[in-house]
Amino acid sequence: MYKKVFGTPFETYAITQTVPETDEVKYFSVKEEGNQITFTLPLENNDIVYGLGETMGGLNKRGGRYISFNTDTADHQDSNPSLYASHNFLIVDGSIHFGVFFDTPARVLFEIDYCNSGEIKVVCETDCVNVYQIEQENAYLITREFLSAIGRAYIPPLWAFGYGQSRFGYMNEADFEAVVQGHEENQLPLDYICMDIDYMDRFIDFTVDKKRFPDLKTFVAKLKEKGIQLVPIVDAGIKIEPGNAVYEEGVAKGYFCKNKEDGLFQAGVWPGMTHFTDFLNSDARAWFGNQYRFYTEQGLEGFWNDMNEPAIFYSEYTKGPKKLNMILDMLLGRFRKEEIEARRIRDYQSFFHQVNGKKVCHYDVHNIYGYFMTMAASEQLDKILDHRFLLFARSSYIGAGRYGGIWTGDNTSCWEHLKLNVLHMPSLNMCGFLYSGADTGGFMGNTNRELLLRWLAVSAFTPLMRNHCGKGVARQECYVFEKVEEFKDILSFRYRMIPYLYSEYMKAALTGDMFIKPLAFGFPEDDWARKVDDQLLVGGSIMMTPILEEGAMSRSVYLPEQMTMVKYDGKEFHTMPMSAGMHQIEARLNEVVFFVLKDKLVPIGKAVNNTSEVDLKDLQFLGDGQGYEMYIDDGMTKEYDLKNIVYIDFSAI
Ligand code: GLC
Repeated sequence: MYKKVFGTPFETYAITQTVPETDEVKYFSVKEEGNQITFTLPLENNDIVYGLGETMGGLNKRGGRYISFNTDTADHQDSNPSLYASHNFLIVDGSIHFGVFFDTPARVLFEIDYCNSGEIKVVCETDCVNVYQIEQENAYLITREFLSAIGRAYIPPLWAFGYGQSRFGYMNEADFEAVVQGHEENQLPLDYICMDIDYMDRFIDFTVDKKRFPDLKTFVAKLKEKGIQLVPIVDAGIKIEPGNAVYEEGVAKGYFCKNKEDGLFQAGVWPGMTHFTDFLNSDARAWFGNQYRFYTEQGLEGFWNDMNEPAIFYSEYTKGPKKLNMILDMLLGRFRKEEIEARRIRDYQSFFHQVNGKKVCHYDVHNIYGYFMTMAASEQLDKILDHRFLLFARSSYIGAGRYGGIWTGDNTSCWEHLKLNVLHMPSLNMCGFLYSGADTGGFMGNTNRELLLRWLAVSAFTPLMRNHCGKGVARQECYVFEKVEEFKDILSFRYRMIPYLYSEYMKAALTGDMFIKPLAFGFPEDDWARKVDDQLLVGGSIMMTPILEEGAMSRSVYLPEQMTMVKYDGKEFHTMPMSAGMHQIEARLNEVVFFVLKDKLVPIGKAVNNTSEVDLKDLQFLGDGQGYEMYIDDGMTKEYDLKNIVYIDFSAI
């Protein structure tokens, strides 16, 4: 890896290695104009362009226009250039094999063969950027080199691989009890329930509504007895309210972002007017991270960071009509998209950070704000707790994958977003986000039985498997649907796969590998495999082949080599060898079909009620391999190490 440095780039800590400098950006022509730099690269017809992590478009990013500018948006359509994250890493794979990372927290535009331009055009809205470049034989090796340069991926506890239930709208202890009961009565496994903003006193971080949760500590302990964790949400903004100790201390210590007049910037989010912690200031970061003690003292070990783009509903400079939320304004048609976008930019240009004694406009460093919030939480939680914790966030930048996981924000209960979930996973892994997943079942709109079952069968392979939805939409806990045993079948699949998923995740994280890969990364010479985007490699032994169409009971699958087909029907794993080529496979709503690669094995565990019952040693193996490298540890302490791999050898049998 080499880097070409333009100007004096802002330190993002995305790359953790020392990288030698070069004086060119290979293959690209570079135009420096005013405060921006444009990079262009001509594409050949067969070049695939991978990367960009959390963006719309396909696995191959050709044909799209994408803008790295972290945005709170529920509009997950190809016409939307910006989602919640900025992952400026691209790979051109074809006539050349070249990876490039534009490391800047500023806004960056990517047009990739947009309107058949036949080129990649990257416009950085800054004249200071580190351009990291990697040349290797293929896209997979480029990714491996990139992952080792951005540092080891976040390692969650074993329970984070369990199933999580969530809903914006669980109000009080009784609501949580009902979720536990719904799972227990129907023998549905469960590891955690997320606490959305209603647990707080008027949406104020680091508080609990005492009427709804009179004794949270006891409640947390009671659920833990059953092997169920509670995972509270923490939002970026701190409510402006005299008497709120965190607010008062933040003001006294000067830890909040300033406005244009050198006062404290005020932004309206869920709790009303808030201040934003200056996460770019290391003291402020440590201070904010330390506030999580409020939760750890109640026995909580999992956290969910939100609204950290940062999301702004309205600000002191851009108040919406009746102070309504920008997104609502847009949904209700009060403003056009462009006006909302302009308001957003105006807000981000109106507040400032203090970095090493220098005033830095938020707009210029916008894309690392959420990442630095995750860093704040993770670094302190690591000190506070002597064991692992669950942490995932909405906004991110490359590098954040070392500190926590991410989920892909407010999707919709529709089949396109199930497909989007599948497309996102490999792209996120390329950018170092191994612990990730989408809102299973969909956040906006009403889900339905078929969609949720098929979605669960996809999420069964993603490290974060959380059913989450918005306030006011139809309920989507598994037990509210008819024939609940079909949901039980899919959830039991997930839990039986945990020995494999955990083992493969740990090996990937500890060796700088991806956990979920495009099929082509395993079969780089196979032209068909290069075209497939809905069959993914999960760990080193599995190809997942989910059904993603409404009403479909079968799908076609391409096998680049002979493999073992596995069908799980809720009770048994049925296996069948299959030759290379195209096949039509069938899966009922309660079934999962996947393939074990040639010469590989997959360890399978027993059906359990939650991860506290998972036995990483009591295993059955699927596939025609001779042995398997099983990663085993206690799933909780920080003594993770490749030494924990046990080779299970079947060659003599
Ligand atoms: C945001 C989050 C969503 C959450 C809601 C309320 O929209 O993306 O997951 O439920 O805020 O906190």
